[in-house]
Amino acid sequence: MSEASLDQAAKKTLLRKIPHGVFICGVAEGEEVNGFTASWVTQGSFEPPLVVMAVRADSTSNGMIQRTGRFALNVLAADQKDLAAVFFKPQKAVGGRFDAAPFQLGALGLPILDDALGAVECELVGQVAAGDHTVFVGAVKNAVLHRDAAALELSATGWQYGG
Ligand SMILES: Cc1cc2nc3c(=O)[nH]c(=O)nc-3n(C[C@H](O)[C@H](O)[C@H](O)COP(=O)(O)O)c2cc1C
Repeated sequence: MSEASLDQAAKKTLLRKIPHGVFICGVAEGEEVNGFTASWVTQGSFEPPLVVMAVRADSTSNGMIQRTGRFALNVLAADQKDLAAVFFKPQKAVGGRFDAAPFQLGALGLPILDDALGAVECELVGQVAAGDHTVFVGAVKNAVLHRDAAALELSATGWQYGG
């Protein structure tokens, strides 16, 4: 089938049925840290433990991940929609979103939010750059659990990212 025959409305409706969580991806380069809200995230392997995340090709963090080969995924609690909102808004300077969210650097030097349920730090093992997002595959090298509770899900926020 040619691309022109793709039923755009059906594609959008169906792709928006894919369930997603809401995470804060943390990155670091030199003295700089940055973070952004990410929902296109899934697990990709048990052994070794891999995660898959798609990141806008034109975002600040995409370049930081490419250059450093690292990213962290912070898992938010179900009641942390406000925190997720901070991390997709424009910021005055790179890393400015962390003014509202205290963090520590993990074993791989990546920002782990004090208030998140926890985070995994990953080393980049592969990527696919074929669209407006780059699909990054990361091997989980460090996991920090602050507390166990229900996680924030995209369906509970009323936001859409997909289609
Ligand atoms: C609900 C929601 C989910 C999002 N999921 C992603 C995602 O999976 N990948 C991505 O690159 N951007 C995603 N974004 C957009 C980024 O959070 C946004 O582009 C951010 O400004 C990028 O920050 P940066 O340029 O500082 O890296 C999402 C935004 C919203 C509102």
